[in-house]
Amino acid sequence: KDFEGRTAFVTGGANGVGIGIVRNLLNAGVKVAIADIRQDAIDKALASLDNREVMGVQLDVADRAGYKAAADKVEAEFGPVSMLFNNAGINLFQTIEDSSYDDWDWVMGVNLNGVINGVATFAPRMKDRALSGEVKGGQIVNTASMAAFIAGPVPGIYNTAKFAVRGLSYSLRYSMAKYGIGVSMVCPGLVKSHIYASDDVRPEALKGEMQAVDEKAVERLAGLHEFGMEPDVIGERILEGIRNNQMHIFPHPEHKDEVRELAEEVLEDFHDYPEDPGYEKRIGFENMR
Ligand code: NAI
Repeated sequence: KDFEGRTAFVTGGANGVGIGIVRNLLNAGVKVAIADIRQDAIDKALASLDNREVMGVQLDVADRAGYKAAADKVEAEFGPVSMLFNNAGINLFQTIEDSSYDDWDWVMGVNLNGVINGVATFAPRMKDRALSGEVKGGQIVNTASMAAFIAGPVPGIYNTAKFAVRGLSYSLRYSMAKYGIGVSMVCPGLVKSHIYASDDVRPEALKGEMQAVDEKAVERLAGLHEFGMEPDVIGERILEGIRNNQMHIFPHPEHKDEVRELAEEVLEDFHDYPEDPGYEKRIGFENMR
């Protein structure tokens, strides 16, 4: 697939995974909008890119009205967006039983509603343009995580949001296929990024009920992320996955065995009850979808 001349909208594009996607898109001749909540990070990214075909737009992906305004602004300048990267995300290392409504609203607001808002804003536009023939094809790429498959006691809300992004991605892939638009989900392991500093972008309005930020834990996470995959490498693997219109893009082969073990554990939970021989035939699994 040749991406040249397309316009991409990359949320959380100023850092980490996002900036890796941005650089690889620019190298492929794509016009790119970096949508990020941090204006200083956008400015820094733009200065480092030194490319005319890139613009910045400040956006909190959890803000629906703001999302539409950002989309309109980008399309007025760079033309129709046909590559959407729902990548912005934050993390909160807490168990579910220790989380407040403010914690839930923040993490689900960015990591799930942010993806929903991206899809609600752009998927209808992409569909209409495909139907009218104005723009052919396109791709929606959601950054989930290995945490969309493997859950632990922490980060509980993050796991919840990423599992939901996985469900959304599967369903959207079925429905958008008939318009020639692909949907992929990226499931990274550790990446060199700033996600450990998520508390810095937590909105004041959602700080009412929260545990004190554990600076030691943040420092430890910052150190851990230094060992992660380089943004440019993950960006390259993501573009390769899109070229093949892969459903799952797993940039870290190191996690393959975990998924295999999970699949085996799930299958083990099916009991050996006697099967109703006519069940599948009468219902037809296709009719359930
Ligand atoms: P990062 O913190 O380096 O970059 C995320 C960017 O999103 C930042 O520039 C931040 O300003 C922006 N952002 C945060 N909240 C936002 C909001 N409400 N609206 C718009 N922009 C916002 O983090 P990273 O690691 O690059 O994260 C990108 C995605 O990758 C996330 O969805 C994350 O869950 C996922 N991921 C990251 C992994 C890692 O090890 N770093 C592993 C697996 C998944």
